[in-house]
Amino acid sequence: MDLQQMDQFAQSIIFEAGRRIREAFTYDLKVETKSDANDLVTNIDRETELFFIEKIKAFDATHKILGEEGMGEKVESLDGVVWIIDPIDGTMNFVKQHRHFMISIGIFVDGIGELGYIFDVMREDLFHAIAGQGAWYNDTPLRKLKAVPLKEAMIGINASWVAPNRRVHHEKVIELIRKIRGTRSYGSAAMEIAFVVSGKLDAYVSMRLSPWDIAGGTIIANEVGAIATNLHGQGFDFLHADTFIIANPSIHQELLENYIIPYE
Ligand code: IPD
Ligand code: CA
Ligand code: CA
Ligand code: CA
Repeated sequence: MDLQQMDQFAQSIIFEAGRRIREAFTYDLKVETKSDANDLVTNIDRETELFFIEKIKAFDATHKILGEEGMGEKVESLDGVVWIIDPIDGTMNFVKQHRHFMISIGIFVDGIGELGYIFDVMREDLFHAIAGQGAWYNDTPLRKLKAVPLKEAMIGINASWVAPNRRVHHEKVIELIRKIRGTRSYGSAAMEIAFVVSGKLDAYVSMRLSPWDIAGGTIIANEVGAIATNLHGQGFDFLHADTFIIANPSIHQELLENYIIPYE
């Protein structure tokens, strides 16, 4: 498996997909809902996923593609080469004409995450990694994360965490928010993960994410020492949805032990 060659190919199709999305951004959006009224998809999400599938299959027909919009084949295992793709992460931002949305791609070889990409489409900024070789923000290497005390942390978390909910002890989350330096919520999991791996956020948490939201980001995370797990501290299996936290290694355990505590 020639990872360098695959990396070059992946970057070329990501930049091309980005150009196509930017051209469509201000017009031509057909918005539909999926599982509920807030679960949006557009023709551009679907067209972008199809674009990736066609390019990847022409590159190597044995590669499998697990995409959010389900335009590819059914993927039930990570055997062989599997691309896990979110064609647009942050669709609601995209629909509301906010510029915060990303293409997120993780490439797995026999279950091992080898190549990771998060592409900020409007800013043309690429966060990327090759397992064991490092991670970059465009051409600049990303450094290993430096320790940060919890009281100086800035955490990506949204308002639903502090309202009573059936998933986590919200009183503990309120305590956390009082303790830390600040919170942010950008509406794109991949963007928030990109900010954690580049030290712009110190953690990001979600009550439910799917493999395509985090596949690219967790591969980049490994290279900078960020820790990504579910809220029980276990690794993601990349074929199912789960809870999610990614954090600077100095605060990951403290967050799970004292502040982000699931009910079940
Ligand atoms: C969503 C975004 C959002 C997160 C949701 C995701 P999508 O992805 O990442 O920030 O809170 O859980 O589903 O649907 O825009 O690709
Ligand atoms: Ca979606
Ligand atoms: Ca997503
Ligand atoms: Ca999406």
